Amino acid sequence: MAIKQTKMKITSICCIGAGYVGGPTMAVIALKCPHIKVNVVDINELKINLWNNNNLNKIPVYEPGLKKIIKKTRNKNLFFSTDIKKAVNQSQMIFVAVNTPTKTYGEGKGMAADLTFVEKCAKTIGEYSYSDKIVVEKSTLPVRTAEKIKEILELNANPGVSFEVLSNPEFLAEGTAIKDLFKSDRVLVGSDQTESGLLAAQSLVKIYENWIPKNKILTTNVWSSELTKLASNAMLAQRISSINSLSAICEKTGADIEEVSNAIGYDKRIGKDFLKSSVGFGGSCFQKDILNLVYLSRHYGLTEVADFWHQVIKINDYQKNRFTRCIINELNGTIKSKKISVLGWAFKKDTNDSRESASIYVTDNLLNEGAEVYIYDPKVSKERIIDDLKNIWEAKKISEVDIKSKLIRLKIVDNYEDCFKKASCISILTEWDEFKKYEWKSLIPKMENQHIIIDGRNILSKNKMDKLTKKYISIGR
Ligand SMILES: NC(=O)c1ccc[n+]([C@@H]2O[C@H](COP(=O)([O-])OP(=O)(O)OC[C@H]3O[C@@H](n4cnc5c(N)ncnc54)[C@H](O)[C@@H]3O)[C@@H](O)[C@H]2O)c1
Repeated sequence: MAIKQTKMKITSICCIGAGYVGGPTMAVIALKCPHIKVNVVDINELKINLWNNNNLNKIPVYEPGLKKIIKKTRNKNLFFSTDIKKAVNQSQMIFVAVNTPTKTYGEGKGMAADLTFVEKCAKTIGEYSYSDKIVVEKSTLPVRTAEKIKEILELNANPGVSFEVLSNPEFLAEGTAIKDLFKSDRVLVGSDQTESGLLAAQSLVKIYENWIPKNKILTTNVWSSELTKLASNAMLAQRISSINSLSAICEKTGADIEEVSNAIGYDKRIGKDFLKSSVGFGGSCFQKDILNLVYLSRHYGLTEVADFWHQVIKINDYQKNRFTRCIINELNGTIKSKKISVLGWAFKKDTNDSRESASIYVTDNLLNEGAEVYIYDPKVSKERIIDDLKNIWEAKKISEVDIKSKLIRLKIVDNYEDCFKKASCISILTEWDEFKKYEWKSLIPKMENQHIIIDGRNILSKNKMDKLTKKYISIGR
């Protein structure tokens, strides 16, 4: 069922999902398109209340520059609400930016994307649309999901209502989301190559043209657009795993990964970005999207392709485990009852998002070895940290008794100085700028004798730290 009318002039849009993508993306559209009314809706009432909170420090997503935009647009042409049905009914174009986590059950468990939330949205859109709509996939989805969405929309459609489904994957990076949205490397719009599909794509292109140069707006068929998002994340993560695998060789040979990656990056064909060695990548997307790509490849019988991409995840896990082993080795093979501090919980700097952060896995390993773990992060809440750990304990089916014993040995502190007092080791897991600015010279003497600092992000000067500590260890140096 294609949309009957010609190009729609869009004056009212909504976005289902007020998370790390929905919130910032819609805020920027509202700012750049004052002529468009933007409704952001979510089933999570608490989250919507936070988006509407008068205290802008309370909005649920921390991103540099976001508060300022919310202040300018909220309740002018940007609205946050839980009334999904009304928002759908009022909008000509509906973005779907709900979460698409890895499946934790049934076929494809641990690999495939869980499309439950997307399917639910499609059903709601079908049921509450009383005029033609353009539905935009903003969530990252497996190739050919648009086909399923269309089926659900049509199954639930009111008489005479038609839909077009576009793919418009989001390429923002958390921590620089606003900068990325203002000056995107490219915007991608995938559509059916029919007359109505192409017209729907043009309606979306028109919105982006309000601030993105025309030559950066790419249009493709839907399947190319869906696959491009998975492929982009896979290529980015691959670079991190590649450099991390080389960091292990550096440690054995005396080569320095910082020097190696700098020299590699000078090659124009390779480029400098995303060649920073670390304790491993985190975030809600890389792992899930690669697993999804692996699943998809297996589904089409492409075993070698699947194995190739799976290795990117395996190296990332290897890097995280290597990091914990390094802490244990440096503390004479046992960390039982020793105080180990983790600086940084967010998966990267300048975000309060900690999904799949390396700190979760490293902390769990440390607790398994009997350590007392102190955690400090400037932006992630205590509740979030506890939830992150509880989630992996639940997935591993850890007993209540074990959980209790781990929680007793866990301290989440507001003051980073508490991490140093009598600590056997300080491990840096997020590259927050403030860590670089600490008075390390006065903090280090507060530690136990060993004075071991393990820098999982290579953010401190090796020369300086070698002088200040008994042992400063970084990745691949
Ligand atoms: N976070 C990123 O950096 C990023 C970047 C690019 C793409 N993506 C993709 O964008 C999508 C969203 O990611 P996110 O990080 O914003 O997720 P998120 O978890 O921060 O937000 C998703 C929101 O959707 C809401 N939701 C779920 N089902 C709903 C329903 N039926 N009706 C209304 N609301 C519903 C949830 O309550 C949640 O608030 C994912 O597919 C992700 O892969 C994320």
